[in-house]
Amino acid sequence: MPDGSKVTVRPARAVRGVVRIPGDKSISHRYAMLAAIAEGTSRFQNFSAARDCASTLDCMRRLGSEWKRLDDDGAIEVRGVGRQLNPPTEMLDCGNSGSTMRMLSGILAGQSFTSELCGDESLSRRPMARIMTPLSEMGAKIEAAEGGRPPLKIHGGPLKAIHYRPEVASAQVKSCVLFAGLFAEGETVLEEPIRTRDHGEIALRAFGAEVERTGNASRIVGGQRLRAIEAHVPGDLSSAAFFLCAAALFPGSQITLPGILMNPTRARLLEILVQMGLKVSVAHLEEHQGELVGTIEAHGTAWTGAVIAGADTAALIDEIPVLAAAAPYSEGGLEVRDAKELRVKESDRIAAVAANLRKMGAEVEERPDGMRIPGGQHLHGAELDSFGDHRIAMAFAVCALRAEGETTIRGADAAGVSYPMFFEELRKITE
Ligand code: S3P
Repeated sequence: MPDGSKVTVRPARAVRGVVRIPGDKSISHRYAMLAAIAEGTSRFQNFSAARDCASTLDCMRRLGSEWKRLDDDGAIEVRGVGRQLNPPTEMLDCGNSGSTMRMLSGILAGQSFTSELCGDESLSRRPMARIMTPLSEMGAKIEAAEGGRPPLKIHGGPLKAIHYRPEVASAQVKSCVLFAGLFAEGETVLEEPIRTRDHGEIALRAFGAEVERTGNASRIVGGQRLRAIEAHVPGDLSSAAFFLCAAALFPGSQITLPGILMNPTRARLLEILVQMGLKVSVAHLEEHQGELVGTIEAHGTAWTGAVIAGADTAALIDEIPVLAAAAPYSEGGLEVRDAKELRVKESDRIAAVAANLRKMGAEVEERPDGMRIPGGQHLHGAELDSFGDHRIAMAFAVCALRAEGETTIRGADAAGVSYPMFFEELRKITE
């Protein structure tokens, strides 16, 4: 990232206020993709402001699905093309978004044309074998760069249903296979090793498809047609996590986050924060197109410690950077296990967290699949790097609030990948 996107964060005494969080990134990607292959025009309120979701919309437009903004608050309209998209005349640029590349591949595998997908430097390093294996088994022919990395060339065609058990617990892989299952002959079954977020299943149902869930298996029968929907996208809980952790750092803090996603496959974060001492209450619970939504009120009191392992690691995978960045200030520290996946996210998040914490004078033990961060530490401001990773940029802005002295984050602009207004919102609520 260029120096032009340096941000300085000063120490704070508390955070206080109301933050309106933009729409959930995971749901927005899925809505944009499914709206494109649906019949009719879909309308979404509070669609994610993330650069990643703009990458998805841009790819869908290149495949024939026109969309337009209806206001400045995230209302958009997406025109469906139906099951058969238009062949793209150019490369589909997924930017920084692994979700776009992996999930869209499932749809492209069932099309009657060849398409090419590329991404930025970070995405070009990320593993794609996890989707190439099931899609190839279903009958698609996929070419990739060495080691199963992007760019991808997908020769779509008739697909056959499979029963697939992925090795890694990944909601992107699950959605990719279920989306491909829409185009396959027979019933496709995806049996996951650990339960992952279920926005793919919920969104498919909202668009009128039948998806069954028994135990850890999701099933879809091919040939189903989708119809356009109107939906309000719930606020992104993974973006809310930065403000919740900031509140946890200062006894006496108080924040309100209206309209946040409460899907049980994502809400483990709230339980961990409560376990660590944050006082959390949820009001105004509602359901929008199968997704639970509520208003979060949080008060900082104590900040203890936690161990995150096994199924919890999968459930908290996107929030571990900010939990880790807040951990040195906790009483008992944080241990993260079974988190090898963190090494192949937008950056190597274990290495990035460790490098930045050390620059701030913290002690941290880095492990191949996790880390241990002792509690009760005093950190000083430093010049940090986002490593081009949105969640690292935002996690260390939170960490910097309790350090002694100013912290500068290089490449802070990366935050826009999921949350373009993050630094402005953080400034508004810090005292
Ligand atoms: C996502 C799933 C997770 C998560 C990513 C979004 C999704 O990735 O880290 O930010 O929307 O399905 P994996 O599927 O690689 O675990």
